[in-house]
Amino acid sequence: MVENNAVKFSEVEPAYTSRHGCRLVWRGVDEDDSDTVILNKDELDSLVDILQRDSTGTVVLEDQTSTILVNSDVTQFSLQGHKLLEADTLKLQKQVLEYGKIPHEPQYVYISSKQFYPSVWIRGEGGEKKGDTRQPGDSLGGQAAKQSLLHAILHSKPKKTDLPLPESDVFRIFATRRSTRKFAKTKVEDWKIDKILAAADTAPTAGNFQGLKIFYIKNGKTKEALVEAANKQSYVNAPVVLVFCMDPSRVKLKFPEDILEKFSIQDATLAASHALIAAAGLGLSSIWIGMINEEKVKSILGTRLRPSSILCIGYPDKRKPPKSRRKLKELIEVIE
Ligand SMILES: Cc1cc2nc3c(=O)[nH]c(=O)nc-3n(C[C@H](O)[C@H](O)[C@H](O)COP(=O)(O)O)c2cc1C
Repeated sequence: MVENNAVKFSEVEPAYTSRHGCRLVWRGVDEDDSDTVILNKDELDSLVDILQRDSTGTVVLEDQTSTILVNSDVTQFSLQGHKLLEADTLKLQKQVLEYGKIPHEPQYVYISSKQFYPSVWIRGEGGEKKGDTRQPGDSLGGQAAKQSLLHAILHSKPKKTDLPLPESDVFRIFATRRSTRKFAKTKVEDWKIDKILAAADTAPTAGNFQGLKIFYIKNGKTKEALVEAANKQSYVNAPVVLVFCMDPSRVKLKFPEDILEKFSIQDATLAASHALIAAAGLGLSSIWIGMINEEKVKSILGTRLRPSSILCIGYPDKRKPPKSRRKLKELIEVIE
């Protein structure tokens, strides 16, 4: 059998956490099955060398224990503490050599929108004017001026730096965050939970009226009941469970009820998003649960407040790379 279990070797992508090298991606039927091996420049060069010569051989990875064994039919990735990954050698050869042909600019570590992994693909794509050396903030006339924001996002010339971003850098957290549905049994430290709750409290709210309430569920039976109320999603029974509810009655603004309701949905959602980012910054992971039966959740919590989401947090059973997004260019529409 060439491919391991449910996952199949799929493609080679630029590395985004190191300046050189690449990511080899395996995909499964379920998006959570995907697996990635990140190679640094030397490892990639050694692999290219073997594949280019149409020969067999072994690449010993940085940790001196993990290996890539290139056979004529199957290439095996024996990574320390990881299940064996396999790839069809011909497919791997084609992909890796093609990847090697394109001059991939090193992915410098810098603070810019391009740092976000999903937008890495913006580089060198159609529509980018070759030789366009304008800098963001340069004075642009007429139509071009209206596009300056998009220009800044898509064409910014980042300052190249070898300095690593600190672990807690918010851009690094955005770029590396990934939802988790399998949590380790490790207990989440109380101080981390405090920080997550405090982070949720820093979120902006309509008129600063804080039209929300957070239920912090410690009780195991309540967590199990919430699994039922969340379409039987078993991972809702997580180490830390927070239910974000809307409380429009707190929003003392003279607007129609439907607007206050809308404000409170946004308040609760933003607070949950702050908590999600804070959890990632603390080395934890989370899963956002929107598929809930509101009436059941209300009855479990004994509240009249409508729940907007449940955020389940814990240490991930396994760290995974972030998922891809559509191209940033497709996300943004410029209205002229
Ligand atoms: C509004 C919303 C509702 C979601 N509801 C669920 C859910 O009920 N169950 C679930 O497993 N994941 C749910 N998710 C998580 C998404 O599937 C996940 O964020 C998405 O696949 C992107 O993956 P990432 O967070 O790793 O980037 C939800 C996310 C959002 C923002």
